[in-house]
Amino acid sequence: MPDKAGHVDIDLERSAERIDHDVQSLTGSDYTLSAEAIRRYAYRPEYRATLDYFTHAWQELGFTVSEDPVGNFVARNRPPGEPVFGVGSHCDSNRNGGRWDGTLGVVCALEVCRASAEHGLDLPLQAISFLEEEGSGFGQMVLGSRIVAGRVSEQELREQIHAIDDGRPFWEHAQEAGYEPARWRECAHILDDLSGWIELHIEQGRVLQDTGRRLGVVSAIAGYVHGDIRITGRADHAGATPMDMRADSGVVAAETIIELERLARAAGSGTVGTVGEIEIAPGLINAIPGRTRISLDVRGPEDEAVHGVIRDIERFAQRAAAERGTKASYSQRQTVPATPMDERLVAALEAAASASGESFTTMISGAAHDTMCVAERVPAAMVFVPCRDGLSHTPEEDANPADAALGVQVILGAISAMVEPG
Ligand code: GLV
Ligand code: MN
Ligand code: MN
Repeated sequence: MPDKAGHVDIDLERSAERIDHDVQSLTGSDYTLSAEAIRRYAYRPEYRATLDYFTHAWQELGFTVSEDPVGNFVARNRPPGEPVFGVGSHCDSNRNGGRWDGTLGVVCALEVCRASAEHGLDLPLQAISFLEEEGSGFGQMVLGSRIVAGRVSEQELREQIHAIDDGRPFWEHAQEAGYEPARWRECAHILDDLSGWIELHIEQGRVLQDTGRRLGVVSAIAGYVHGDIRITGRADHAGATPMDMRADSGVVAAETIIELERLARAAGSGTVGTVGEIEIAPGLINAIPGRTRISLDVRGPEDEAVHGVIRDIERFAQRAAAERGTKASYSQRQTVPATPMDERLVAALEAAASASGESFTTMISGAAHDTMCVAERVPAAMVFVPCRDGLSHTPEEDANPADAALGVQVILGAISAMVEPG
């Protein structure tokens, strides 16, 4: 049983072994589309196999497993209508992903459920694995949790969100996989009974490693805007067109990339800006780029600063384009505001982390997480564990199952304190 400080004793070694086993099992060839990286995303067989793995594991614990109308996965140990505490993350990966990002959070949710049963806590629990957190299938981050939060429109799901692989709409893919996207509004119900929510995740930065801490308690998650700038010029011959007769969309893109760096630095307050995708057409050594698309990823803990950078980069691109006889247009893919975590829950996690006697810190998440969408309706927080050299979204990702087991213990302590206050 938990003591007053929210300390729960679990067999940390056994938990670490089980976490390690699950994470390593899910690197097998059934669970990834690529042998070089972990690559799995919505509606593909590898993703289905991963959900089946978790279905089996939770059913063994006596949980009832279901999937909502688009494929968010749910496992719970109390009947519908009874309050439960939520734990989970996502089990899709970046296209060039590692084994830990997301999957560790679902594996640790499973371990929370196992340890709760094993140590006689019998906590009321509901695990969720959200669909498409990474956007690897449809180019849209935190898609499953945004559907749950009602932050997408039916038109987007039917017509505007397309699969990266074949360009067909999300709607068609969801139907083909056996889901009922027409009932997408019902996805909101998976949060109905939650009295709280905790997601465990690798940090994806170097703060914990470099300061020698084993855990981070997240107090807020940076907001972001994702968008694209498309520049249209003229795809003339690279040899036959003199320098002063060109409409080169590639040069405008280059200027815009440099300006984004300047604007993000100038905005301060932790604002960051990145161009991660460049598409140049026709993409030939001897042709002037007629069309160029660059992606924009702008984030930060202050929404005004983030949106200011987006506004300024759009204006800059249009001006720079006009100076070179080209045209630039900006379109937003999506945005999620900066999200503070629930103060009581953060305090409960801090108390449980202190009680463990291990080193931890309270910090802000620069990366986005499904918890941003859960937090709108449910008191929510996150726990970070260190990852080697801060690496993520690469097969080089690495983390220590012993830290994750400690995270499970701290989460159990916090949930116990929240569920049975006093
Ligand atoms: C999520 O993976 C992110 O890029 O923040
Ligand atoms: Mn993730
Ligand atoms: Mn990620």
